[in-house]
Amino acid sequence: MAAHHDVWQITIELLKKKIPILLQMDRKLSLLLVVCLLTGISATKYDEFTYNGFQRSELYLDGVAEITPNGLLILTNTTRNQQGHAFHKVPLHFKNTSEGNIYSFSTCFVFAILPEHPDVSGHGLAFVLSPTRGLPGAMPNQYLGLFNSANNGNSSNHVLAVELDTISNPEFGDIDSNHVGIDVNGLRSTDAAPASYFVEKIDKFKKLSLISGEPMQVWVDYSNPEKKLNVTISPISVPKPSHPLLSSFVNLSSVILETMYIGFSSSTGSILTSHYVLGWSFKMNGQAAALNLSSLPSLPLKKHRRNLSSLIIWLSLGVVVFITITACSIAYIIRRKARYAEVLEEWELENRTHRFSYKELFKATKGFPEKNLLGVGGFGRVYKGELPTSKTEIAVKRISHDSKQGMREFVGEIASNSQLRHRNLVQLLGYSRRKGEVLLVYEFMTNGSLDKFLYDANNPTTLGWSQRLKIIRGVASGLLYLHEEWEQIVVHRDIKASNVLLDSEMNGKLGDFGLSTLYDHGSDPQITRVVGTFGYIAPELTKTGRATTSTDVFAFGVFVLEVVCGRRPIVQQDSQDLHLVDWVWKSWRNGVILEVTDARLGGDYHLGEVEMILKIGLLCSHPVPAARPTMRQVMQFLNGDLSLPQMPKGGRGITISSPEHAEELEES
Ligand SMILES: *[C@@H]1O[C@H](CO)[C@@H](O)[C@H](O)[C@H]1NC(C)=O
Ligand SMILES: *[C@@H]1O[C@H](CO)[C@@H](O)[C@H](O)[C@H]1NC(C)=O
Ligand SMILES: *[C@@H]1O[C@H](CO)[C@@H](O)[C@H](O)[C@H]1NC(C)=O
Ligand SMILES: *[C@@H]1O[C@H](CO)[C@@H](O)[C@H](O)[C@H]1NC(C)=O
Repeated sequence: MAAHHDVWQITIELLKKKIPILLQMDRKLSLLLVVCLLTGISATKYDEFTYNGFQRSELYLDGVAEITPNGLLILTNTTRNQQGHAFHKVPLHFKNTSEGNIYSFSTCFVFAILPEHPDVSGHGLAFVLSPTRGLPGAMPNQYLGLFNSANNGNSSNHVLAVELDTISNPEFGDIDSNHVGIDVNGLRSTDAAPASYFVEKIDKFKKLSLISGEPMQVWVDYSNPEKKLNVTISPISVPKPSHPLLSSFVNLSSVILETMYIGFSSSTGSILTSHYVLGWSFKMNGQAAALNLSSLPSLPLKKHRRNLSSLIIWLSLGVVVFITITACSIAYIIRRKARYAEVLEEWELENRTHRFSYKELFKATKGFPEKNLLGVGGFGRVYKGELPTSKTEIAVKRISHDSKQGMREFVGEIASNSQLRHRNLVQLLGYSRRKGEVLLVYEFMTNGSLDKFLYDANNPTTLGWSQRLKIIRGVASGLLYLHEEWEQIVVHRDIKASNVLLDSEMNGKLGDFGLSTLYDHGSDPQITRVVGTFGYIAPELTKTGRATTSTDVFAFGVFVLEVVCGRRPIVQQDSQDLHLVDWVWKSWRNGVILEVTDARLGGDYHLGEVEMILKIGLLCSHPVPAARPTMRQVMQFLNGDLSLPQMPKGGRGITISSPEHAEELEES
């Protein structure tokens, strides 16, 4: 015992001496403890958050994303080909470290998509779980700011997204241009449904338009035990519907990492659109808190919305105003009418296509002066303009059209064409009509038409091989969409270098599709004119006068050769027409195929690729229709999914100079 006592004594003595040091240590320890506790607390704090507006939010923004002083999160702000990201600043733990189970989670947000024009918009937005903050390397446009062409669909992405997609992209198997989809590691959705919400009263889903500009609420609930991902959407005035829009089995085990960032991603295309998020809540292992809808920030005023009912209201208002003004100053009206006179018939109200007023376009182009003339085509003159309110650059094509008959079909055609949406088609934004004239409004293409690059000696820019290949691919993909991927078959009828327009990134886009039908709706239905451009017309077309997808493929073949050779389809040589197709065939037979390539390429190209493209050009421009591939096959050749058929190297001469010749071939 005594020994024990001594030990205590010594210890106490020691303690007395060392107490200041110990005290100091204690302070450090407790500090450490406090820090530990705090971080612990903050870690749990971050597993749940609610933002009714983003004034005091902890978001990491990139791209064109910004937060306005009143707390509105703007992912994209009427910008072209841009992306915007907003991520919760700190990563969240999505897995139970000891057992490796994924946590269930739940989120809820309010968004709005406000396009510049009521019927068309950019690409949409997505709620996203990602291993990185800001998705480096992602592309805007159809990749929604999530992926790029190389990593799309790769399981090493570890990305889960719920997309609110406003463009139908056949490349990713989109179901329509207004849908909600679940994307795992790529943009080909594992599950998707047209945007709609369940209404208990009628026991049915009711459609809603994502690009209406109205705020809408989305709930994403994942339950890990069942591996069920539910997505529910509804207008902001409607509480959470009892049935989700999507309820999908998704096994996230190999997708979700220990920690993930959560946020939003959005991209615009060539059409001005703003994407907004107004509020957002999230909770790990529980139900996300409901948003306080009345305290969400307000959206900017809509500048340019015009739906059918408001159009009618405006029209009737217009009538009242018209009567009043007539009473006041008839002379003035007559003068104005002469200048801006328009024709609007009842059936036009059925079309969803945006109708511009003539006045609007007159102002946008500053009165169609010569200096704004972009070009003169077979269908009319094209002017550059800028819509005054939105500063959107546009190209306006004026087509004179005298026949009243056929106008209805033609406008119907325009309406259906304006629903066509593909990144390799020049987007039709709307139209305007007055007596004897139709005006078509297109998105403006910065780099003009391709022929200027191929043939204009004054153009300092020479297209490199990879640029030419990209343009050919683009046009092929646009044409495939017209032929096979749209609801009905659309025959372009006038494919040629001058109808391929280039955007700011030198992507090729087909223009003028369907316009040739204008001729079919001409004043005299007895006369069927052969449409198309000399040098691109398939032999059988001159006989039958019937344009088909196969005559399109022929013209595409000529176009392809044109791009590789840098030569027009027909050149005069020794007062004779020399057909490009014949010339390439000849070089092919003589085994000097590469001699035809454009000298401006300076031999800087991939031999195998050039040979493949030339072969595709020859196959497509084959005089016998049955020998031509379909555009789907062309796409497969281009992608290397289908090998090219054997070409007859020592074969007989094939010429398209006379249709009779083709007939011979057909019969032999
Ligand atoms: C966003 O849009 C508003 C309203 O049109 C404009 O005032 C603002 O400058 C835009 N911001 C950016 C970054 O473009
Ligand atoms: C997927 O990405 C990884 C890492 O970037 C890469 O090594 C792999 O080749 C990619 N897989 C495919 C099929 O592209
Ligand atoms: C998902 O929806 C189904 C069907 O309505 C429902 O039974 C299930 O509980 C929901 N799961 C979650 C996590 O909300
Ligand atoms: C989910 O995937 C993991 C691995 O990818 C697998 O081990 C597990 O069995 C899957 N679970 C279900 C329910 O399919």
